[in-house]
Amino acid sequence: MALTLQEIEHLLVTQGPLQYGREAVSQLEHALQCAQLAEQAGESPATVAACLLHDLGHLLAPGGGTHEQDDLHQYVALPFLRSLLPDAVLEPIRLHVDAKRYLCTVEPGYWEALSPASQHSLVLQGGAFSGPEAERFASLPFAQEAIRLRRYDDHAKVPGLATPPLAHYLSAVRALAVEAPLSPA
Ligand SMILES: [Fe+2]
Repeated sequence: MALTLQEIEHLLVTQGPLQYGREAVSQLEHALQCAQLAEQAGESPATVAACLLHDLGHLLAPGGGTHEQDDLHQYVALPFLRSLLPDAVLEPIRLHVDAKRYLCTVEPGYWEALSPASQHSLVLQGGAFSGPEAERFASLPFAQEAIRLRRYDDHAKVPGLATPPLAHYLSAVRALAVEAPLSPA
């Protein structure tokens, strides 16, 4: 069930041109923009890698969700990545939807600034957290990384924005991977 680095690259290249939900960018453009925002902010390689891969679940099960159903994409990729990458990559991915639910609760104006598609998916994902749920979330390991990932995610939807190529960010993933590199960095 585990993916190799080569298979992750293949997935991003072949499925990446799919539209990112109802946004005006592709899945690959969104992933690259998210990773670029993290890199520009000085995030660790693990958080940059999490940003690149946070929506891999959409590519593993394209069309898994519908307008009326949550695809739970934050969990889909985890079994495929668990033997390859550390928790510092996996946990922000797992928590990035809950980070949106958290920010909607604790940050005035956050919900209003979400794209219409993201506002719609929030409802399917369970809506804003209650106060106790938000407190519990904030205490989890890697919650802060997930929250920052979420903010990059929200802004990684700019049509036509130039980014470094996929190979640039895959080298960050490769450096973190448990397996021996399949090709020279
Ligand atoms: Fe995303």
